[in-house]
Amino acid sequence: MEGPSMFEKNQALSVIQLDFQGINPPSEPCVMLIFGASGDLTRRLLVPALYNLACDRLLNDNFAVLGTAQDPLTTEQFRERLSNDIEQFHTRETFDQAVWERLVKRFHYLPGDLNELSVFLQLKAEVAKLDARFQTQGNVLFYLATAPRFFGKICDNLDDSGFKEGSGWKHIIVEKPFGTDLNSAIELNKEILSRWDEDHIYRVDHYLGKETVQNLLAFRFSNGIFEPLWNKHYIDNIQFNVAEAVAVEERGEYYDRSGVLRDMIQSHMFQMLAYLCMETPVSLDPDDIRDEKAKLLQSVRIYTPEEAARYVVRGQYGPQLDDKGNVVKPGYRQEKNVDPQSNTETYAATRIHIDNWRWEGVPIYLRSGKALWKRGTEIVVEFKKAASAPFCTTNRRQLGSNRLIFHIQPHQGIEIHFYAKAPGPRLQLQPVNMSFGYGETFKASRYTGYEIMVYSCTHGDATLFSRGDLVEAGWRIAQPIIDHWAMTPAPEFPNYERGSWGPKHATDLVQSENRQWHELVTEELFKRVAIFKDGSSLLLSQIRITLRAKQAAADDIIVKRGDIGREMYLLVRGEVEVTEDDSSVAKTLKAGDFFGEIALLLLTPRSATVRARTDCDLLVLDKSDFDRILCEHPEFAQGVAKVARERYHFGLCKTSLLGYKECKNRLTMSPEMRPACLWTESECAKN
Ligand code: BG6
Repeated sequence: MEGPSMFEKNQALSVIQLDFQGINPPSEPCVMLIFGASGDLTRRLLVPALYNLACDRLLNDNFAVLGTAQDPLTTEQFRERLSNDIEQFHTRETFDQAVWERLVKRFHYLPGDLNELSVFLQLKAEVAKLDARFQTQGNVLFYLATAPRFFGKICDNLDDSGFKEGSGWKHIIVEKPFGTDLNSAIELNKEILSRWDEDHIYRVDHYLGKETVQNLLAFRFSNGIFEPLWNKHYIDNIQFNVAEAVAVEERGEYYDRSGVLRDMIQSHMFQMLAYLCMETPVSLDPDDIRDEKAKLLQSVRIYTPEEAARYVVRGQYGPQLDDKGNVVKPGYRQEKNVDPQSNTETYAATRIHIDNWRWEGVPIYLRSGKALWKRGTEIVVEFKKAASAPFCTTNRRQLGSNRLIFHIQPHQGIEIHFYAKAPGPRLQLQPVNMSFGYGETFKASRYTGYEIMVYSCTHGDATLFSRGDLVEAGWRIAQPIIDHWAMTPAPEFPNYERGSWGPKHATDLVQSENRQWHELVTEELFKRVAIFKDGSSLLLSQIRITLRAKQAAADDIIVKRGDIGREMYLLVRGEVEVTEDDSSVAKTLKAGDFFGEIALLLLTPRSATVRARTDCDLLVLDKSDFDRILCEHPEFAQGVAKVARERYHFGLCKTSLLGYKECKNRLTMSPEMRPACLWTESECAKN
C-alpha cells in the first residue's frame, strides 16, 4: 500500500497545528501602542518577546505596533533599528528571518512629546488607521515603557484624547517601578484610577512572566503531596535568594535613587513570596489568586524601627582587587552616575515574619544583591528535621533536614534533598537528591518573560499582573525599612567585595537564629577549586549537596592550633594565612585553595592556626560527609591525602595504611575513631 501523499501529510500537520492552537489560541487582535518605543526595554525585551510569540504562532495576524517616543525617527528608521537590534537580542537558537520580515512590517512609529495632548490626538488618528488596516476590532494595548514619572500624565492624556471611546477593549500595561515609596505608590494609584478602572490597568512584574515562578502555583496546588506539609508544623524556614552577578553598569542614575530593597525585594521577591506562602485560592480566576496574594502580604509584620534594625541588613559593593591590591573593577561609589558618597544599598537581607496561622514563627529569609559571585535565583524550603533517627550507625547530630529547592534561574528546575542508605553492609545514611530540570523535560525556547505578559494582557487575563492593593501592601512592608535606613546612614559602606557572597552581616543574621543560608554551589565554582577540577560528575554531585557555606571577616581565626577539628575548608574568595608553632606565617592561601584537610584524615589536634587576612567566603566539608563520600570515591581521598602529605610530611599509624576496602578496623572501630585511608591499595601493599 502506498504511504500518505505530501498533500495528506500536510493536511495531517495542519490538523495537529489546529489542535495545538486550541490549547494555546493566539493573542487577541489589537494595536499595541508602545510609549518609550526607542528605549532599552523595547529593543531588549518587548520586541524579542513579540518575535518569540510570532515564531510560536501565538501572535494574532490582526496585530500592529505603533511606537512613540521623543526621538525623531521615521517608521522606516524605526524598523531598521529594530532589525539590527533583534539579531543581538533574540533568545532563540536560530533566527528565523522570514518570521521577522513579516513581523517588522507591522511596526510603525510616530514621534512626539508625551506631555502634549496634541500628540495623543495624532496617536489616536494613527491607531484608528492601523485598526482599519489590520482589522484589530478597536482593541488597543497601551504599553508604558517610559520612566515612571510619565505614567500619570500618559494615563490622563489617553483619557483626554478620547481613547476610551469606541468599541473594543483598552488595556494599559504599566512598567515597574510603581512608585518609589508607599506615598508615591498611593498617589500614582489614585491618579491612574481617577481616569481608568482597575480592570484596564496591568502592572507589570516581569518575575511573574517567568515559567518557573508561574510553576510555583502549579506545583503547590496541583500536587496533593505537598500542601499538607505547607505550614509551620513541617517547615522550619524558607529562603528566597536572588543573586545577581551584574553590577549597576549603565543604570547608576536610576539605581542610586532606588537600591535593592525597592528594585528587587519590594517588587519581584514579594511576588514570589506571595505565590509560595499564600492560602489556596478558591479558583484560578485572576482576582481569586490576587486576593490571596494581597492577604498574604497584609499578614507580613510591619517592622518597628527596632525590628528593622534587628531583622534587616544592607550592603554596598566595593571594588574588586587583584593580588597586589589594584582595582580590577570599580566599587559601587565609583560607578557612572553614582554619588561618590552614596548610601544606596546594593545588597539586602531580611528575616520577615508572616503573622498568620499557617506561618507564625517560621523564619522567612530574603536576600538579594548586585555584583555577587553568581547569578542565581532560588527558593529553598527547609523542612523540620526528622523527629527521631533510629539509625545507630549514623551520628544523629549530623542528620540534616529535607529541602525542597525551586531553581528559578538560570537553571530552571526543582530539587528535593533527602537521605538514602548508602550501599554497603551497614546502614549508613547519605544526603541525595531528586531533581527535575525544565531543560531535560520540555522542549521550549528560552523566553524573555514578556511574551506571556503581552499575550495574557490581550486576553484580559490579569493573573500575572499586580493589583493596586498588592503594590501598596508591598510598599507598606518596605516603608519602615526605607525610613529606618534614611535615619541611620551606613558608615561601614562599602562592606562587601565585588564578586563575593555579600556582607558577612547577612550570614550573622541567620546564624543568630541557629540557621544558615543555603549557598547553592555552581559547577563554575567547582572549576575554581583545585581538588575538584577533575572530579567526576558523580563525585561533584555528592559534594555539592554536602558542602556548607561559611564567611569569615578579616582577622577572624578560622582554625586554631591545638583544637580537634572535624572539617576541611575550601577557600572560594579571599586570603588566609597559616601560622605554625613559631607564630611566623608559614604560608598564604588564596581562592581555589583548601586547608584543614588533616581533620578529615586523622583525629589529631590542628597543627596550625589559620587566620583570615581579608574577608573570606568558604565552603566547609564535614568529616562525616567526607567519610561517606569516600566509600564511593576513594580517589578523592587520595587527592586530599596527596596534598596533605606534601604539605606536612606526616607519618601515619598502621591502621591508616590499610587499603580502604580491606580495612578491618574500619568496620569494627567506632565511627569516631575510624581513620580515613590515605592510600591506594597498591601504595598500601608497598607500605
Ligand atoms: C529588574 C531590576 O526589575 O530586574 C534590575 O530593575 C534587575 O535591577 C532585574 O537586574 C533582574 O531581572 P532578571 O530577570 O534578570 O532576574
